[in-house]
Amino acid sequence: MNDSRVSDLFEFLRFPSVSTQSEHIVDMIACAEWLKNKFVNLGFQADVRQTGGHPAVVARTPHDPARPTVLIYGHYDVQPPEPLGEWKTPPFEPTIRDGRIYARGSTDNKGQILAHILGLGELLAANGALPANLVFLVEGEEEIGSDNLAGFLEEHRAELDCDVIVISDTGMAAHGYPTLTFSLRGIAALEFNVHGPTQDLHSGVFGGAVMNPATAAARLIASLHDEDGRVAIEGFYNDVRPMFDWEREAAAALPITDSDVCTLAGVSELAGEPGFTAIERVGARPTAEVNGMGGGYQGEGTKTVLPREAFAKLTFRLVPNQRPEDILRLVEAHLYARCPRGVRLEILPGHCGEPYYADPNSLYGRAALRALERVFGRKPALMREGGSIPIVTTFKKVLGADSLLLALASPDCYAHSPNENFPLENFFAGIRLSQAVIEEIGRLN
Ligand code: BES
Ligand code: MN
Repeated sequence: MNDSRVSDLFEFLRFPSVSTQSEHIVDMIACAEWLKNKFVNLGFQADVRQTGGHPAVVARTPHDPARPTVLIYGHYDVQPPEPLGEWKTPPFEPTIRDGRIYARGSTDNKGQILAHILGLGELLAANGALPANLVFLVEGEEEIGSDNLAGFLEEHRAELDCDVIVISDTGMAAHGYPTLTFSLRGIAALEFNVHGPTQDLHSGVFGGAVMNPATAAARLIASLHDEDGRVAIEGFYNDVRPMFDWEREAAAALPITDSDVCTLAGVSELAGEPGFTAIERVGARPTAEVNGMGGGYQGEGTKTVLPREAFAKLTFRLVPNQRPEDILRLVEAHLYARCPRGVRLEILPGHCGEPYYADPNSLYGRAALRALERVFGRKPALMREGGSIPIVTTFKKVLGADSLLLALASPDCYAHSPNENFPLENFFAGIRLSQAVIEEIGRLN
């Protein structure tokens, strides 16, 4: 395709900027440098900044005190592309099929953040000045919890000072359907290891007499839910704020049915907490998920062995007003109390992110709704997102600003999955949306 904006996106997508894998440290740096140069070429002042972890890129326009300041946030890091065999084309060789760009990071979050950068660069070139001061913050650790960015915000609070934040890193209610996300789930991560005998043992010689760590881990995992699908951890739901009536009405009005969710997931039947639709379970109810588990022989064929250890990686998605640290404490107590005798349980707490919630009808919220309506030509849906963007609540605490979460990912973009993709249509809509939202915010002045 002969469009410089699409070739820019191709270049951006070719960096294997996988934040969780240390072998990619040099790719992270190269990707941040590429972004900085892109900003500079578009007329922004820009720097690559050290954070204590992967670098962040900060770019800006000259500050006019008479105008509002908008911070545009996104991330250039991506999730691991594995399992590689399931990609139709390689994850870091972007390919267009049926109007969509396939590549790891295309919808999470390179397509959207580049659309904002290019859209506002275009507007700057066309008008010389913009109706708002812009500060861009593009980080490299979103997919690993943004732990270092919080400190960076504290330290650079003055230069990141802003009135409102714009982020496109959430999902649209349906393809082509404008959507304002007004809530994000929080997250609490932990890993546990179950340690048994000093070495792997013959399962015929020791099985039945020694507690098997894999069995113990399975029991612990199974204890997280009750038979009906509710989380069975004492106190887990205590701080959950029930949905308002208007939220249930908004959820029911969304163009997504339980059967759509079934189809998207490729399952024949849904499961989860009774009394809620799929979209309510995902957006407004907390959950416990097993993201990985292992232990024992993984190779071809059978091996009669009693493994010396087993592990699980868990995350809990949280909603207002749950606090991640409180939830971790409840989970730890739950697991220690249930660990079978004869093995030792070790718990490693992981990253935490707080849930986020903002009134979609605030002054800025309404400006965002107008921008969405202008670009997509229909009334936007209001939606609570099941995913997390951990820094958003930190933005609120440190910078005092709310985030306008302008969804641009279609439901079948498959972030984090093989064959992640981003429709070119959404990329171009993102370019127009970045311009429209800055104009609408500028107009509030
Ligand atoms: N873009 C996502 C957030 C998201 C997820 C939006 C699903 C819409 C649907 C973001 O990049 C993300 O994946 N965040 C992680 C954060 C975690 C690693 C702390 C997530 O939600 O798993
Ligand atoms: Mn992600």
